[in-house]
Parts: sequence; structure tokens; C-alpha cells
Amino acid sequence: MPPTMIDTHAHLYLEQFDDDRAEVMDRAQTAGVQQILLPNIDSKTVAAMHALVSAYPDRCKAMMGLHPCSVDKDVDRELVVVEQHLSQRPYVAVGEIGLDYYWDKTHIEEQKEAFRVQTKWAHSLALPIVIHSRDSIDDILEELEKLALPGLRGVFHCFTGDTTQIQRILDLSFLMGIGGVLTFKNGGLDKVAPSIPLNSIVLETDAPYLTPHPYRGKRNESSYVALVAEKLADILAMQLEEVAQITTRNAKDLFTC
Ligand code: NI
Repeated sequence: MPPTMIDTHAHLYLEQFDDDRAEVMDRAQTAGVQQILLPNIDSKTVAAMHALVSAYPDRCKAMMGLHPCSVDKDVDRELVVVEQHLSQRPYVAVGEIGLDYYWDKTHIEEQKEAFRVQTKWAHSLALPIVIHSRDSIDDILEELEKLALPGLRGVFHCFTGDTTQIQRILDLSFLMGIGGVLTFKNGGLDKVAPSIPLNSIVLETDAPYLTPHPYRGKRNESSYVALVAEKLADILAMQLEEVAQITTRNAKDLFTC
């Protein structure tokens, strides 16, 4: 029996899984991945995400938020949708939200404002935030430090930063989500990961993206979170069971799942 794990970040509701979603869910269960947390992207993904939660209410839990790559001139209309959903049903987090400086820097100010607004909603609902911080960790940290919302919790999803950023994240009592990048040759994360206390790490896939070795380049899926756990155990010279147990406890504590 594999140890119990949680995939804290997977977009299994996307069309990349339309042909074999049930098999993907079965393989996750076989691999020990008991729960899968689903970050929203924008108004176009909500229905599919809710449908997946309805199909697997014990294993899939939804988040609600507007992804920074979906922030454009229509941001106000999109945020109204997020706010309405947050008022209508429970979610495990506000996410994924944040700043993306990799794909498009046209709407940086709108991205920042959307991040601030959604972070304040999370704080008022006592929900954690799930942060997308591609090429933007320092600016996210600056926003969080300026907001200074007491008791706010969250995770830097797909963390790939340096040791200085790790310390600033720990100072905020935030966690770091570790995924397939840990297994990449030349990814660099394997050098930095030992600087993160294990009780500040949650495991994730970001499926269908960022597939771990040896499946890199193919579609990612939640069962592969086990490959991330194995790699982390290897790097930390710990037993897989212990890594799984501690990261699962971290996820349950952060997301109340
Ligand atoms: Ni994501």
C-alpha cells in the first residue's frame, strides 16, 4: 500500500482529461493520492471544475479565483464572477491568484489589483490563498508584506525561488508547493529544496502541466505526485512514508481538507 498523499494543485477538469478522466482518478487512488485540490482559472472553467467535484465529492475539492493569465481589460467582470461564487458555496482556498510576468506583462497593474482584491476576500472568509508567482515572487512578497493581513495563510504554488525568497515566505508563515520541477535536470530546485523546512512544503502536480521525470513532455496527472514525493525523500535522505505523512498533514492543516 502506498502512503497517503494529497495533490494540492491539479487542473483535472480541463479538456486534456476529457477522454480518460475516470482512469486518471483511478490511477491517482492506486498511487495513494487520496485527495486532489482543484484551482480555478477563470469564468470559463468554473462549470467543469464544479462538475468534477460533484462526480468525486470525497476526493476532489474546489478553489475559487481568477488566474493572473486570465487578467485583461475585462478583469472587473471576471472578479464579479469570483465574488459571486465565493458567496454561494464553500471552497478550500482562493486560487489560483497572483502575478505572471512570464507570458505577458501588458496588464501588470490589473494583475496586482486583482491579486490584492482576491487576497482580501480570502482573508475575510478565513480561506488560504494559492499563489501563482511565475517570475514574480518578489513582487508577490511585496504585495503581501504591504497588505499585512493578520492570520492570512497560503502557499506559493510551483515554488522555484531562491533561499532569500524562502526566508521571506517563511517569515510570512506561508508554505511552498513543490511539484515536477523538483525532478528536472538543471531545474535547480533540488539544490534549494533542502533549505525549506518539510513542515512548510505541500506536494502538487499542476496537471496537465510540469510533468515530472521520466514522463516530462507528456501530460501530467495526479498519480505522478508520488514521483515528486519520492524525489523529495531522496534529496532529504528520508523515508518516503515520512515525507508523505508530513506533507499530507501540512495540506490538511492549510486547506482544512
Ligand atoms: Ni495551476
